[in-house]
Amino acid sequence: MDNKPEFRVVPSPNSVPGAERARILENPGFGKVFTDHMVTVSWDLDKGWHDASVRQRAPFQLDPASAVLHYAQEIFEGMKAYRTGHGTITLFRPEENARRFQASAKRMAMPEIPEELFLESIEQLVRIDRDWVPSGDGSSLYIRPFMFASEAFLGVRPAHSYIYCVIASPVGAYFKGGEKPISVWISDAFSRAAHGGTGAAKCGGNYAGSLLAQAEAAQHGCDQVVFLDAAEHRWVEELGGMNIFFVMDDGSIVTPPLGTILPGITRASLIRIARDSGITVEEKAYSFDQWQQDAASGRLKEAFACGTAAVVAPIGSVRHAGGEFSIGGGGVGTVTHDLRQRLVGMQRGSREDVYGWLHSIS
Ligand code: PLP
Ligand code: COI
Repeated sequence: MDNKPEFRVVPSPNSVPGAERARILENPGFGKVFTDHMVTVSWDLDKGWHDASVRQRAPFQLDPASAVLHYAQEIFEGMKAYRTGHGTITLFRPEENARRFQASAKRMAMPEIPEELFLESIEQLVRIDRDWVPSGDGSSLYIRPFMFASEAFLGVRPAHSYIYCVIASPVGAYFKGGEKPISVWISDAFSRAAHGGTGAAKCGGNYAGSLLAQAEAAQHGCDQVVFLDAAEHRWVEELGGMNIFFVMDDGSIVTPPLGTILPGITRASLIRIARDSGITVEEKAYSFDQWQQDAASGRLKEAFACGTAAVVAPIGSVRHAGGEFSIGGGGVGTVTHDLRQRLVGMQRGSREDVYGWLHSIS
């Protein structure tokens, strides 16, 4: 049943003309413009994975009773294709996205797309839309694989049919200031995830639940919200769309442990890069109280957020219901900057890919 379907490739008859595409690629913003094509693969109980196609990006026709519209059975991934200095196009650890997509599917009682089919779907889209991969510094093609329950049925149970889709969007920096430090708001009213919940899955519902907290952060003049744990409201978890790291005065790094947070691929990669360069990285619970004390005493030197979209973003200032404080004088710390350079250098081919993390698209 789950044999890999062959992709039917139908190039779009309405692709954006080259001159217009070049103009868009000069300043694409984040997630606002899209490439010419999309990939879709269907799944149902009888046929398994079938009807794989690469075709013109177009709206879906959905039955109003489609399960995703009622019970939010939806998951997604976020990954990037980079144009390297050598002119090749590469993906960064796409197998990790494939595996996390499977883990998210499992948690949301959805079918798991085979890793090989996931990887081929990404390659197919990047290949046909390769002219959309920007070459500018800090820009890339953001790829968004996702899957949703398409069955028209209002009973509450896992749907019997799903659509898997991949779209892509040329992007610049997620934060307008580039590497300029961001400000964060500590949410004391809202939680993102609890033990036994869906925090470790990349499901749309987690993000819907984070929007009000993010809006509260914006009202307080902050770029991003930081969530604390749901049980005690004490332990730092992560941001709305990024993991978080703390750099101490002895050079060691602390980052919250896996469990209720999204297991970030950037997080895992930075832990590896840091440890291999001799830095002690502890994955351990870190409380907001401790964070305040360490910032005040000077023990905390740097903090940064990281993720596919955000890359590595220094955290310069922190606001909370009781006041505000800055970290490392509000500037960009050397450890943060160095880790960012090493990661980005590897992703963009200017540093040796010592771990075999790059996957080039022929
Ligand atoms: N945490 C959340 C909630 C996210 O949405 C993301 C982004 O995908 C991350 C962390 C970072 O994950 P990754 O590094 O795999 O992009
Ligand atoms: C990503 O980094 O890929 C995400 O999904 C996070 C979101 C803020 C765009």
